[in-house]
Amino acid sequence: MTNFNILPNRRNPNHLNKWTWYPKDILPMWVADMDFPAPKPILDTIHKAADQGVLGYELPSLALKQTVAARMDKLYKWKVRPEAVVATTGIVSAFSVAARIACTPKRGVLIQTPVYNEFLEVQHNIQIPQLDAPLVKQIKGNIIHYEIDWTAFEKQVKHAGMFLMCNPHNPLGIIFPPKDLLRMAQLCIKHNVLIVSDEIHAELLLGGKKFTPLATLSAEIAKHTITLIAPSKTFNTPGLFCGFAIIPDDKLRARYETEVSHLRLHVSSFGLFAAQTAYSGKCDSWLSELRAYLTANRDFLVDYVSAHMPDARLTNPDATYLGWLDFTQTNIHGSPFEFFLTHAKVATREGLLFGPGGAGHLRINFGTSRKLLTQALERMRKALLKNVNTQ
Ligand SMILES: Cc1ncc(COP(=O)(O)O)c(C=O)c1O
Repeated sequence: MTNFNILPNRRNPNHLNKWTWYPKDILPMWVADMDFPAPKPILDTIHKAADQGVLGYELPSLALKQTVAARMDKLYKWKVRPEAVVATTGIVSAFSVAARIACTPKRGVLIQTPVYNEFLEVQHNIQIPQLDAPLVKQIKGNIIHYEIDWTAFEKQVKHAGMFLMCNPHNPLGIIFPPKDLLRMAQLCIKHNVLIVSDEIHAELLLGGKKFTPLATLSAEIAKHTITLIAPSKTFNTPGLFCGFAIIPDDKLRARYETEVSHLRLHVSSFGLFAAQTAYSGKCDSWLSELRAYLTANRDFLVDYVSAHMPDARLTNPDATYLGWLDFTQTNIHGSPFEFFLTHAKVATREGLLFGPGGAGHLRINFGTSRKLLTQALERMRKALLKNVNTQ
């Protein structure tokens, strides 16, 4: 059994990460990596590669592509040809490459805010328009949930070159149901829009939830889709920067690979080695334990906020280790991120980074020990209480 209650110390003064970014008294619940060590089989792979001594160039091998394809078959009965698998230097660079081949100054990138902040950067990086079909907040007691605004989606998709979808969704933790996926995909195909499905969180399922990759819905959809996956969130190896673009259509893949080659986006050898082990199945028992721990953390977060922060609302995420908290009805004026950083010494993620609907919200990372999560929430509760008493 893995003990997720014990965390290694990442506060090395010569390193710059979420633990060293702020002063020591701040609890870091912001960047989306977990505080847990990666599973032992991955660490063994890295040790073995280092012990061999030569840190030379490596290319994605056929065996690695076969391993990725076999994982898709095992998880979803999705038959991917190994040659459809392209290794990428992570997922942000992969969707940036896709935008370069699919978007123009007239056909922009369609996103659904509030969404992972890097989605909002594509427009600036590639100088293309951004089209937004914001998700709509639904409120039930103190639980919030978001749904697709189909009118907005249908209006915006006509002007898009690419639809960048986040499923499971960061920061909202939504797993889109197949009927919604199908409808979005059909609209994209109708308007000749490339679908890029960022599925980096697909294996971080909570409470026994199931996930359906968009491209498995039909051969027609698969032909129009680039699916982006990575072991990095699931197995906590994001610093190795290795992901995969699954591109079944040969012509689309050739265009994608040409752009990658122009940009010289070579994947690091450790990233490739780790991915092979991560997707081999050797880490799957660790993953089931992780999911159970994260599910319990999610439940704890939801219960704690419901019981102790009565005016706050939050999501009950089906996937990811990210919670989305709504403080718009509380006594905090201005940014809750700033409020809690100053008054609770807890660093979360500013909601506005995820789009205009994020004002008054923040994202919290619960991929940490229960002890630390409890400490952060208690500090936040006390800061809220003090705020009431001083008003
Ligand atoms: C939806 C999503 N895509 C991509 C990334 C980052 O991917 P990478 O570090 O491989 O570029 C993240 C990280 O939080 C994410 O949440």
